[in-house]
Amino acid sequence: MSAPSTAIESNLVENRVFPPSEALVKAARISGMAGYEALRAEADRDFEGFWARLARENLQWTKPFTRTLDESNAPFYQWFADGELNASANCLDRHMGTAVENKTAIIFEADDGAVTKVTYKELLARVSQFANALKAHGVEKGDRVLIYMPMGVEGVVAMQACARIGATHSVVFGGFSAKALNERIIDAGAVAVITANYQVRGGKELPLKAIVDEGLAMGGCECVRSIFVYQRTATACAMVPGRDKTWDEALAGQSTECPPTPVGAEHPLFILYTSGSTGKPKGVQHSTGGYLLWAKLTMDWSFDLKPEDVFWCTADIGWVTGHSYVTYGPLAAGATEIIFEGIPTYPNAGRFWQMIERHKCTVFYTAPTAIRSLIKAADSDAAVHPKNWDLSSLRILGSVGEPINPEAWMWYYRHVGGERCPVIDTWWQTETGGHIMNPLPGATPLVPGSCTLPLPGIYTAIVDETGQEMPNGSGGMLVIKRPWPSMIRTIWNDPERFKKSYFPDELKGYYLAGDGAVRSVDRGYFRVTGRIDDVLNVSGHRMGTMEIESALVAKSDLVAEAAVVGRPDDLTGEAICAFVVLKRPRPVGDEAKQIAKELRDWVAKEIGPIAKPKDIRFGDNLPKTRSGKIMRRLLRSLAKGESITQDTSTLENPAILDQLAQNN
Ligand code: PRX
Repeated sequence: MSAPSTAIESNLVENRVFPPSEALVKAARISGMAGYEALRAEADRDFEGFWARLARENLQWTKPFTRTLDESNAPFYQWFADGELNASANCLDRHMGTAVENKTAIIFEADDGAVTKVTYKELLARVSQFANALKAHGVEKGDRVLIYMPMGVEGVVAMQACARIGATHSVVFGGFSAKALNERIIDAGAVAVITANYQVRGGKELPLKAIVDEGLAMGGCECVRSIFVYQRTATACAMVPGRDKTWDEALAGQSTECPPTPVGAEHPLFILYTSGSTGKPKGVQHSTGGYLLWAKLTMDWSFDLKPEDVFWCTADIGWVTGHSYVTYGPLAAGATEIIFEGIPTYPNAGRFWQMIERHKCTVFYTAPTAIRSLIKAADSDAAVHPKNWDLSSLRILGSVGEPINPEAWMWYYRHVGGERCPVIDTWWQTETGGHIMNPLPGATPLVPGSCTLPLPGIYTAIVDETGQEMPNGSGGMLVIKRPWPSMIRTIWNDPERFKKSYFPDELKGYYLAGDGAVRSVDRGYFRVTGRIDDVLNVSGHRMGTMEIESALVAKSDLVAEAAVVGRPDDLTGEAICAFVVLKRPRPVGDEAKQIAKELRDWVAKEIGPIAKPKDIRFGDNLPKTRSGKIMRRLLRSLAKGESITQDTSTLENPAILDQLAQNN
């Protein structure tokens, strides 16, 4: 990995600054920059004392911790390790007997617009009953359970029920393939799978259980003893007697009370697979205590959550954003939250705005990709422009998943937020568990396109390859200098890879995020420019280039060699571009189109539709140095459609560039 060039400095011309309104400052939990600085100073003064105070104030412990941070086996840090708690009790039971007990926890809007509301008390009963069902099927503390569910109340119930009995869940996004499921089931050693017969998105029924069956049939999944199937639709799906149970069968006769199982603070709450720079996805392991502390606290800090707020995070529970800001954070904070089953463009691209109006949403948290696609839709059809709906309930807007370009930021701020709602651009990752850098609604002056400053207690910096800090205005690698409670604990089954990926020797023990960033000269604000490793960000979804390359060459009857790079895309942030050498003469015309389609379908089967390359280009060879190394930087230029100005004298086969410059 190399530090990005300082060329990004020149892009950093953003003079617009939006200070928080007086009303926001006055009402905010962290009020004004003085409030922010005071918390930072507290962490500077007494790092462990700061975190211990927050952990005591924000979580309910069945056994209090006596040690805050254990660094004896760094980078395998432990937080609050001798304390015990239960994550589900901290999301549900803690609210019983308080004003939150009969408050709406979840407003669920189905794909077809049907709405169901669930109170905290009802949710506790549903989680407890399903937890009892899991126990009755032999699922125990420490077991792993794979969840492959649509967006809905039951997905949250499934996750919370696992947490309640101390089982570690691993949620797989419903857009991943049978093969991806198979690999995750095997790696996690899952004893049970929780799924649904179908998911409903954009008016279509898409199978889930059939994909689970296909994944299991690929072999190696003997660990799975039970499959629980929520019947989302009336359509039947194949069931294996003995192994498979419908949701209703599983719940039958089970009590709606289930005492939460206390676990150690370091007990793995979940494993979530994410792409890295090698072929195999990494099982990011999170703790219970530290993770939950940050999920709860960032709800309070980043969104300045109030009891009357109606919070809506549009992320799927299959991604970390859905874990922290759908399943755990909002419930731990006692919020009312919206969960949406469908897609932003069905029945039309006004769906989000219509739902904000309908449910009087106050805090709305979504991804730049969604915003960009809704801008495009509103530009071409005035009927779906947000101005057609009453969005006056909104107080705060959030953004997550990828850099938000200042144009999209301004549109979001103006047309959705009515120039009244701060845009909270949150930078973080699967590995960080929760927000790391973002403005605070009642404190931080906003600059479009910048995630501004780290949260109190978090120490981010920009360094060169030797760990030396860069001056403001100079680009470099983003690192986190000190451990924090919600950090990744290890990579499941691969502690060595954990150390190598995130704590390389040259970086003095700093956590390496894998992103490039630059700080502004005037304010020292951070702007994250994107990945500096072989990871792409397509519509906010993280994809490894090597993962896609491995999938392509796995089609061994056809593909001899493949190289995958990203290129900028107005809508999806980055687009996947694959350069492929076939085991037959380079195809042209219709044949090229047909083989490209075949390869896209193949990648969808190997990984999932989200990994399908947008461009596929065929060559007789790939551009290589005389020592046989593929020159990816040239491929990146070709993918962007740039003419090659770089030095190609070390290239074995310069003629290949012209061939690869042609798109199919
Ligand atoms: O490159 C950064 C980008 O998304 C990566 C993390 O992806 P993932 O683990 O899937 O988590 C996504 C949701 C937290 C980061 O390494 N990223 C995420 N948020 C931002 C961002 N890039 C710029 N600005 C952001 N706000």
